Order: sequence, then C-alpha cells, then structure tokens
Amino acid sequence: MIEELRSIASLAEEEIQSTETLNALTSVKAKYLGKKGLITERIRSLRSLPPEKRPEYGRLLNQIKNRIEELLKEREGYLKEADLDRRLKAESFDVTLPGFCIPFGHLHPATRMLNEIIDIFVSLGFSVMEGPEVELDYYNFEALNIPKDHPARDMQDTFYISDDVVLRTHTSPVQVRVMEKHTPPLSVVAPGKVYRCDADISHIPMFHQIEGFMVDEHITMGDLRGVLEVFAHEVFGPQTAIRFRPSYFPFTEPSAEVDISCVLCNGSGCRVCKNSGWVEVLGAGMINPRVFEMAGYEPGRYTGFAFGMGVERITMLKYGISDIRLFLENDKRFLEQF
Ligand code: DAH
Repeated sequence: MIEELRSIASLAEEEIQSTETLNALTSVKAKYLGKKGLITERIRSLRSLPPEKRPEYGRLLNQIKNRIEELLKEREGYLKEADLDRRLKAESFDVTLPGFCIPFGHLHPATRMLNEIIDIFVSLGFSVMEGPEVELDYYNFEALNIPKDHPARDMQDTFYISDDVVLRTHTSPVQVRVMEKHTPPLSVVAPGKVYRCDADISHIPMFHQIEGFMVDEHITMGDLRGVLEVFAHEVFGPQTAIRFRPSYFPFTEPSAEVDISCVLCNGSGCRVCKNSGWVEVLGAGMINPRVFEMAGYEPGRYTGFAFGMGVERITMLKYGISDIRLFLENDKRFLEQF
C-alpha cells in the first residue's frame, strides 16, 4: 500500500511537471485531488484501515497531498508567466516601422497657380479686389467700351441671365467697379471665375482670369512692361523673354498681345509654339480714356495700364498640359501630379 502511494506520488509529480497548459493542469489536479481523485479516495478510505496502520499511512497521505498541492501551485505560476510572455511576444510591435499614411488632399492646380500669381503681384505692391460673377451687362460690356454689336456679346459666347445681366465673360469689369469707388493711385489685381459658352480642347465654359491694372498721373507702357517682365520671370524662370504684339481691345488703347519665349524649346521652335519660338500669355494695353470717363474720372488727368490673363492657360504652359478640359474632369490621376 505504501509502495502504491509512493508510485502515485511520483506519477503525479511527473504529470504536473510535464503539463504545458493551465487547462491540462486543471485536469491533472482533478485526477489526484478532485472529488473522485486518487488521493481524495484514499483519504476517504483511511477509516476502513486497521487502527494501527492509520497513523503512518495517514501521515504519508497528507505529505503527498501537500506536496502535490505545492507542485500544482508552482506549475500554475510557471504556466501563467509563460502564457503572459507568449502573449506579450505575440502582441509586441516594432515602433520603428513607418506609420500608415493618411492620404492628404491638396489645392487644385488652377487654384495653386492663381495663388502663386496673386502673390507675385502682391509682392509688387498690388492690392487684391474682387467683383461679382453674375454681372450687369453694363460693367461687363458697356462701361468697357464694348459696343452692342461687338462679337464678344454674341449669344454663342455669353451666358445671358436676362437682357442686362450676364455671367461675366472676363474679369475686366472689376476695373470699372474699383475705379467708381477709388481714386488713383491704384494698383489692383482682380482674380476670379469667368464664364463663356464654349467647350473644346482649349476652351471650357468656366475658367479663371486675373485682371491687373495700375492708374496714376504718369503711368506708361514702360511700367506695364516692367511689371509683366517680373511676372514672367517669377512664373516661368529668369531666362524668359517677353514681347508685345499690336492688337485690339475696346477698353485699351494702344492694345497688345503679350508673348513669352516658348517655355518648352526656349525660343528655338517646337510643337507648343508652332515653331515660332513664342507663346501668347495675356492681353494688355493702356486703359482707354473712354473707360476713365465711364468710371467718372476727370478727363485727361490719369493714365494707366491693364492686363488680363487666363490662369488655366498659364498653368498649361508652365506644366505642359495639352487639354484644358482636364481642369474640370477631377481625374485624380491628373490632379495627383501637382
Ligand atoms: N478681358 C480680356 C479677355 O477676357 C483680356 C484683357 C485684354 C484684359 C486686355 C485686359 C486688357 O485688361 O488690357 O479676353
């Protein structure tokens, strides 16, 4: 009997030491110390032993029970720690790995170009003023010396809201609105959206223009040239040359079309400049005295220059974009390149 007890004890010890999980340990505990456990049963049957054998057998039984309890506790501690170690290892992460990038949006390329151009003129002392996009026929045409039969008034080009209200076709009306309220000296840029009923590879029905004008008592075409040269150098680089070609606008006299040396071939001739070495970037001129008169200025007192440029066109030249419709399509493959 004593032998049997010792072999149960050594078996228990072996089993406890070889358990690998807390669950397995619970089963081993039940096997020896549970209600029907090998040790429990023997404690219960102590009473049926002859009285002289009880003390020795009982003491041994007690020792073995205590020993098994002690071993179980030790093993439980060990397994719990091992379990924690394993979990910590599994859950650990490398803090030096780069994080996930949240995709950032950015301003539309036309807006970026617009802001860049405004900044250049602000750095030259120009102020920024805006006018309405839904404009009176009077400001869009009449006050700019554009007579009733001018082609720009054609229904093909102008979105008419009513007989005398239009979606402005250019930013030039801001000139008159500003001059009605302010007396010279004036140097102003007027950025904004303009609308024309037109759509093809080089026309979209809504685009952006920046109007610029300077009015004082002795403004000359030399001032215009100087300002536009700074603009061209800032936007297209210091190697850029500019030239004026005679042209006609009702609100300027004389008027000019302003070209820059081709950004792609530097003037040697290519597809973009149609082999001329030059590309047109804006219209400009000396403000027509008729416009000063319409704004209510004292006749003959002031001179001034004005210019107007298409922001999408400048952006296309600067980045080599060949189709203006890309600006309105919101194709991320296009927009993400800026
Ligand atoms: N307003 C003209 C247009 O939309 C552009 C323009 C030309 C503006 C000459 C000017 C200018 O101020 O002097 O086509």
